Amino acid sequence: MSNKLRVVLAGCGGMAKAWLNVMKDHPRVEVAGLADLRLEAAEQKKADYGLSAARVGTDLAALLADLKPDLVVDVTIPAAHKAVTLAALAAGCHVLGEKPLADSLANAREMIAAAEKAGKIYMVSQNYRWQPQVRALRQAVAGGLLGDVTTVNVDFYIGAHFGGFRDEMAHPLLLDMSIHHFDLVRCVTQADPEAVYCREFNPKGSWYKGDVAATAVFEMSGGVVFTYRGSWCAEGHNTGWNGLWRVVGTKGSIAWDGASAPVAELVKGTEGFKRECERLELPIEETRPAGQEGSLLRLLEALDANARPETWCGDNLKSLAMVFGAVESAEAGARLPIRE
Ligand SMILES: NC(=O)c1ccc[n+]([C@@H]2O[C@H](COP(=O)([O-])OP(=O)(O)OC[C@H]3O[C@@H](n4cnc5c(N)ncnc54)[C@H](O)[C@@H]3O)[C@@H](O)[C@H]2O)c1
Repeated sequence: MSNKLRVVLAGCGGMAKAWLNVMKDHPRVEVAGLADLRLEAAEQKKADYGLSAARVGTDLAALLADLKPDLVVDVTIPAAHKAVTLAALAAGCHVLGEKPLADSLANAREMIAAAEKAGKIYMVSQNYRWQPQVRALRQAVAGGLLGDVTTVNVDFYIGAHFGGFRDEMAHPLLLDMSIHHFDLVRCVTQADPEAVYCREFNPKGSWYKGDVAATAVFEMSGGVVFTYRGSWCAEGHNTGWNGLWRVVGTKGSIAWDGASAPVAELVKGTEGFKRECERLELPIEETRPAGQEGSLLRLLEALDANARPETWCGDNLKSLAMVFGAVESAEAGARLPIRE
């Protein structure tokens, strides 16, 4: 009998490709089943990836009862994450779910409580965290390179023509994209959100039904102020997916273009209108995989160590609380405290 982790993948749409590329020949994983509401989507992935032994089905609970896998990888749309996660936990599986954790904070809390009750890991795949540049930023900040961090700015502008569920969502930018940026800011500063003022809007000419642009000011623990400007409906001068970053501390600043190594300018001089600074490219030391492979690796490490992964659901709730705090602030037109 194989001692590999047996996995059922739920959701066989666009992002399932990234997961199957990672899991297909993974030495520690066997794809035992594929579930999708659209049987043809599951059949197609089975054929595309040569998973001849995998079972396919539209009824996830029935598939789990038959296959008794160890893990469900949830790559369904955000509105389905709760149903998939609860079914997986009820079947005794760990869950590695795509972001966002849930489509509401109430649903997120129910899912977290179910994972705790079941004694299983529910990890949210915040794959942006595993990028070597992000680990370098996190390490530099944690090591005190900037002194105390006071300010973080992130700008994100992409004219994204997806089609599909994002065009119909109420908060496509905040819930489906900004969750990555908010989680990254928590990852880099290790500060928690305390309050937010947000203006969410749907720009003229938008091809989305919901508000797809936002400007927000977050107050974070330790006095950090995080300003975010983002849009998925901005043609021209697009940023990368990480956005453009500036982190300011008492000893200097780090700028990150979202692609190359972040660059620090650290104050050296003690005289003059502008103090002399020294430039330092942050050393990139992380060699472990990023992306979905990085998420799977962190889950396997947590299972081996019988520990919680960095992005277990209880921690990830703080990132999701930033999303819904921003949504509520925009609806109220007011600065609001952020409650998990
Ligand atoms: N981490 C990243 O960088 C990244 C990138 C893109 C998408 N995502 C996330 O991945 C998830 C899926 O996105 P996508 O682009 O693949 O969407 P998609 O619409 O292409 O695919 C979703 C699939 O889920 C299926 N589905 C819906 N409800 C289901 C249910 N209850 N049970 C089983 N299957 C169900 C749909 O039929 C569809 O085939 C989303 O949460 C999205 O935010 C993450």
